[in-house]
Amino acid sequence: MSATLSAATIRGSEVELNWRDGAPGLKLPLLWLRDNCQCDESRHPQTRQRLVDTFRIPADITASSIALEQDGRVLRLEWDGSGHVSRFDADFLSELRADPDVLPHSFTTWDRDSIAQAAPQVPYSAFLQDEATLKEFLEQVARHGFSFVEGVPATPAATQAIARRIAYIRETIFGGYWGFTANMEHKDTAYTSMAIGPHTDGTYSFDAPGYQMFHCLAAECSGGENVLIDGFRIAELMRREHPADYRTLTEVLIPGQYLDDSRGIHLMARRPLFRLNDLGRLVQVSYNNYDRAPFALPEAQQAAFYRALGRFDAYCNDTTLQLRRRLLPGSVLLFDNWRVLHARDAYVGYRHLAGAYLNKEDVESRLRFLRVAAGEPV
Ligand SMILES: [Fe+2]
Repeated sequence: MSATLSAATIRGSEVELNWRDGAPGLKLPLLWLRDNCQCDESRHPQTRQRLVDTFRIPADITASSIALEQDGRVLRLEWDGSGHVSRFDADFLSELRADPDVLPHSFTTWDRDSIAQAAPQVPYSAFLQDEATLKEFLEQVARHGFSFVEGVPATPAATQAIARRIAYIRETIFGGYWGFTANMEHKDTAYTSMAIGPHTDGTYSFDAPGYQMFHCLAAECSGGENVLIDGFRIAELMRREHPADYRTLTEVLIPGQYLDDSRGIHLMARRPLFRLNDLGRLVQVSYNNYDRAPFALPEAQQAAFYRALGRFDAYCNDTTLQLRRRLLPGSVLLFDNWRVLHARDAYVGYRHLAGAYLNKEDVESRLRFLRVAAGEPV
């Protein structure tokens, strides 16, 4: 990135910044600028943690001079009284305009036919050894919400190596790295051979797992096809075709719960099915009708909620929106659990599925650093 300032003007207690590329101006309070001074005394040069004592800065601080340096690539301010000088890179100031909740990427939503063309995947050996392949894999996950690593040995060690290559494995009530067969080891339908409808995991968790990894280590069974659905695509469709239902699902806080009396576990959390951030951008889809806890709404809202939820579920079960694939030993799937819903057909026989959860911010952190190393903007 190379942002360039065209003008910087003090207006009252604020500085107004204008950009050479004509992007909308940015206003920052003088107090904010002193608080976010980037010099080594004000911010630790290595950790970049704040050292300046925010609460000793006068609320009515003023600057004795303001100027652009290096042809608009640097803003210089000299503060009244202390004579302290602050310099800000135009890039740093420009990045303040970005949405901090969303790692910048051009994601594309998909349906059955469009994803059939793309089929994102990378080979296992390159994934382990080559930074560019790891980056490509994570870019695919950012773009489509999922990708496959192919040619993986069907062992727990190889599965874990893939997870650890990206980030550390998240510990939950299911453990860290998990493996399941139809043995009801945990009180969850995942541990049966029943069909499981489209859902996201962790609706009972305030911070639902950001990503989930599956590796089928044994598939001596018939049936058991896996299904992925792009929740962001459903949001686009509902927003356009059923805006009232869409709005309902952005507003109603739906509680999820997980109960296991024998282990003394009762997890609960709630959020809207479509969670928007403060800028109105969709950042998370959460849907698990199995785990929805009983909750009551005022009568009029209750009817609207059931209608909207039914509409969403109908989209989930629309086969033109579904990617269907039988997971087989050797293919590891990583998907964005804040975006992509997953489901599974019933099966007969023996099936051993293993996997892990990864945290949202850890995976995004890995991709940010890989982008920087590749000389790309983050
Ligand atoms: Fe699941």
